[in-house]
Amino acid sequence: MNLLILNASPKKKGGASRFFSGLFRLFLPGIRKKVVSLSCQQDFQRVLELLPGMDVVCLFVPLYVDGLPSHIVEFLIQAEGYCKNHPCQFRLYVLANNGFVEGKQNRPALNMLQAWCERAEITWGGGIGIGGGVMLQVLGIIYPILIGIILLQMALSLCSIGTISGELWRSFVIQMLTWLFLNSGMLWCMARLSSAIRRERVLPNQFTRVMIPSWLFIPIADVFMILSSLFQGRFLFALLQQDKWHS
Ligand SMILES: Cc1cc2nc3c(=O)[nH]c(=O)nc-3n(C[C@H](O)[C@H](O)[C@H](O)COP(=O)(O)O)c2cc1C
Repeated sequence: MNLLILNASPKKKGGASRFFSGLFRLFLPGIRKKVVSLSCQQDFQRVLELLPGMDVVCLFVPLYVDGLPSHIVEFLIQAEGYCKNHPCQFRLYVLANNGFVEGKQNRPALNMLQAWCERAEITWGGGIGIGGGVMLQVLGIIYPILIGIILLQMALSLCSIGTISGELWRSFVIQMLTWLFLNSGMLWCMARLSSAIRRERVLPNQFTRVMIPSWLFIPIADVFMILSSLFQGRFLFALLQQDKWHS
């Protein structure tokens, strides 16, 4: 089976779609995979030329304004024409992610891609909508650091006193289980998607989210957005601008 993984976020580096595609590859050992970026118009020709040789295409795309990013709309228009002239036999699976907590917000985007499949005579494989995509990506950075620190403490404790305290073991297990729980919906859906791909089946659309209650998600997301704009300089810049207007 030839599988093409498309990272369709306009972000050239990092991003939630790239994070999910990296994780998803672990679910498909033994399958020949090609991972290609579809972040701008310059990528179109390369991707189009790959399509006729593929059995499965997996599109990892962010939700933009309850729909698809504009470069993907443009790509789909070109791909429809290309697939008419160069017969394509692939099955399209999609993993869409969004910033807000509800994964169901991705439903219109998945419907758009399914409608495109019907129009372009491509087989629709099904999709996953993941809510809180950015948060899952950030947790995927924070938790390995936390767990790494605990492992380091364990190693130091083993070297210095020759044993590891029960408290260290407890915090290691708690962090691992918490991380697993927060990701559990996404991991379950990825397992179902990978199984559908292997069996060449259609997966009814699945929706999941970061496993945090909505009332907690909102303040965490607010703090995160303030910190991220602070680090990118925009927050301070806006404050300085305000000062200028007041004076
Ligand atoms: C222009 C723009 C529009 C967006 N629109 C939505 C939206 O309608 N609903 C939503 O939940 N998230 C929205 N988001 C958030 C993204 O879907 C979210 O940050 C996603 O994880 C980005 O994925 P990426 O890092 O792979 O690009 C929007 C982000 C941008 C930049």
